Amino acid sequence: MDDRETQHLGTTAPDLARAAELLRQGGLVAFPTETVYGLGADARQGRAVADLFAAKGRPAFNPLIVHLADMADAAQYADLSDDAARLAQAFWPGALTLVLPLARDHGLSELVTAGLATVGLRVPAHPVARALLAAFGGPLAGPSANPSGRISPTTAQHVLAGLSGRIDAVIDAGPCPVGVESTVVGFDGETPILLRPGGVPLDPLEAALGRRFSSWDDGRAISAPGQLRSHYAPRVRVRLNAEAPEPGEVYLGFGSGTGDLNLSPSGDLSEAAARLFACLHQLDALGRPIAVAPIPETGLGQAINDRLRRAAAPRT
Ligand code: TXA
Ligand code: MG
Repeated sequence: MDDRETQHLGTTAPDLARAAELLRQGGLVAFPTETVYGLGADARQGRAVADLFAAKGRPAFNPLIVHLADMADAAQYADLSDDAARLAQAFWPGALTLVLPLARDHGLSELVTAGLATVGLRVPAHPVARALLAAFGGPLAGPSANPSGRISPTTAQHVLAGLSGRIDAVIDAGPCPVGVESTVVGFDGETPILLRPGGVPLDPLEAALGRRFSSWDDGRAISAPGQLRSHYAPRVRVRLNAEAPEPGEVYLGFGSGTGDLNLSPSGDLSEAAARLFACLHQLDALGRPIAVAPIPETGLGQAINDRLRRAAAPRT
C-alpha cells in the first residue's frame, strides 16, 4: 500500500494543472478547503475511489462528500428540493454539505455513495479548492485527508504525517481558515436534519429556512453512517470539561487561564475551531493524556464539542 511517491505541490497554475492531471489518471490528491484538507479522487472512477478508501483505511459503508466547482453543477448529481436550493443559495460556496437524493444518470461511482440513494454535495469556498475543481472539471470525491478515525488535517504537514506514501500528491496552501469540517444537512421528507455540526453554525441555517432542524439521533429514518462514536481520535486518552489538569495530563485551555496550549486565550470560538485539530495533533505527539477546558455549546462551539466528544469516546 505504501508504494506511492507523494508529491508536495504548491498553488501555482502549473501545480494545479499537474494535480488535475493526476486526478484524471485516477490518482489521489490531497487539497485544501476552508474547513480541512480533503483527499480528492475522481468521483466517477470506481478504481480511484476504491484506492481512496484503501489509502484512508475507511470502512466502505461510509459514503464520501462530492465537491463541485459551482452550484449549477449540483442538479446533474442530485435532486434539490426548494429548501435544499435555498440553503445552497445562502451557504455555497462554503462549509455546508447537503445530503440529497441522487439524480438519474448521475454517473458517480457507487462506492462514493456507499450504495445509498443519496449523495453528499459541497461547493467549497477556498480559492485553491475552487481553482483545482475548475482545472479538473469534474466531481471530486473528498473525505478528510487523514487515516480513518484519526484527527482531521488542517495543514499539508498533517496530511503527510498520516498519508505520505499512500497518495500521489498534496497541494500545500497553508493552514485551513475554518478548521472544523463542514456542517452536514440532510432531509427526512420535508424535515431538515443536522447530520453533523460543523463550520456553518445551526442558527443561520435555521434562520435561512425559518424553522428548526431535527437531530440525526432523534430516531430518524435517514441514514447517518458517519456518526461513529469514536472518531477524530488522538492516540492518547482525552478528558473533557476539565477545569484543571490532573498530574501527568497535558492541558488544552480555552479563554483566560493557563494551559500547555490554549485554543483561544480571548475565548473566541472561530479561533478555537481553526486551532482545534492542530492543537490535538501537537498534544497527541507528546504521548500524555489530554485534559480539555470547557467550551461553550453555542455557535461553532457545537462543532468543536462534537469533535471533542468523539475524541474522548471509548475506542471501538
Ligand atoms: O469539511 C468537510 O466536510 C471535509 C472537506 C474535505 O470537504 N470532508 C469531510 O469528509 O469531512 P468526511 O468523509 O470525513 O466526512 C463526511 C461525512 C461523513 O460523516 C459521512 O458519513 C457523511 O458526511 N455523508 C456523506 N455522504 C452521506 C450520505 N449520502 N448520507 C449520509 N451521510 C453522508
Ligand atoms: Mg473525516
